[in-house]
Amino acid sequence: MSAKESIEALRNKINYHNHRYYVLDDPEISDAEYDQLLKELQELEHKHPDLITADSPTQRVGASPLQEFSPVEHTVPMLSLANAMSPEEVLEFDERVKKFLKSKEEIDYVVEPKLDGLAVELIYEAGRLILGSTRGDGYNGEDITQNLKTIKAIPLLLHKRGVTPVPRRIAVRGEVIMAIKDFELLNKRRTESGEQLFANPRNAAAGSVRQLDSRVTAQRPLDMYCYGIGEIEGVTFKTQGELLQGLKAWGLKVNPHITLCKDIREAVAACQKIESMRETLPYEIDGAVVKVNWFDLQNALGTISKSPRWATAFKFAPHQETTVIEDIQVQVGRTGALTPVAILKPVRVGGV
Ligand code: IVH
Repeated sequence: MSAKESIEALRNKINYHNHRYYVLDDPEISDAEYDQLLKELQELEHKHPDLITADSPTQRVGASPLQEFSPVEHTVPMLSLANAMSPEEVLEFDERVKKFLKSKEEIDYVVEPKLDGLAVELIYEAGRLILGSTRGDGYNGEDITQNLKTIKAIPLLLHKRGVTPVPRRIAVRGEVIMAIKDFELLNKRRTESGEQLFANPRNAAAGSVRQLDSRVTAQRPLDMYCYGIGEIEGVTFKTQGELLQGLKAWGLKVNPHITLCKDIREAVAACQKIESMRETLPYEIDGAVVKVNWFDLQNALGTISKSPRWATAFKFAPHQETTVIEDIQVQVGRTGALTPVAILKPVRVGGV
């Protein structure tokens, strides 16, 4: 085997195990075996620097720091979601959808967890990650390609062996998050080194992704779930459900707690199911997203003031915790007024 072929074979092997570990959470080999493969590749590339490519798994360690991020325009704007604060408001959303479509028929919906992280866009051309950006104001974001390349759940190359062909160009959208336990560990280390703490996992994810030095990002435990697309060339999907299957087949990470519902009642039940799982999930969510499944209906519904008419976010109540009053101290004011102050036993609320 030539050096080129050995490098190619090693890269394929590493990409395969990377996907098993970081996307499917189902590794086949030990960390030590994985590290050994990576080491072999590094050594080969060191001997043949002319064979190093930008999409090699060795290139996930970060690059030289930037002075600033370059602007990136989103050809299809990255919209935000209107909120439904109760199941009744989700039912009202369904009524508006039917009224707009002048239809009495039940609508298929997809219900997804609303991840509390940072929205990003990944552009793949011929299956190769060429650009990654923040959402910004929805129309213009920042080029954070180097940083996103350090996140192992993001494939540098899309899988081509599936039934769905890889599009010529696609903008994949999703949320970069930090798991709660990783956030706690990061803050613990920052306490020890006297660095400022992150307020919550979302801030930690956002702060990590917006580092000018991608070598810092590479040290942060980030993850990403994909839930949609912007522009796409060469492939079409009929439904959100089909799209999510396609994203998965290309090796992108899709949340496992997504339900296809045949009407709004099922969708409300799916929202409530996600809410009941909230405290047991390893990452923070702040709601559930209800999306019209069929893209032709989505297109007919369109958008209104930056939000699509075809989706709504069912927002959960802010985190609540119970604690005990340990003491009541009476403070004496300047005028002699007495103010009782409750001393509460500290509790953790939503990771804080
Ligand atoms: S769909 C127009 N799906 O929520 C549809 N968004 O206010 C836009 N988010 O900026 C996005 N989980 O950061 C969608 N499963 C999900 C989501 C999700 C989290 C965030 C996203 C977006 C914001 C919308």
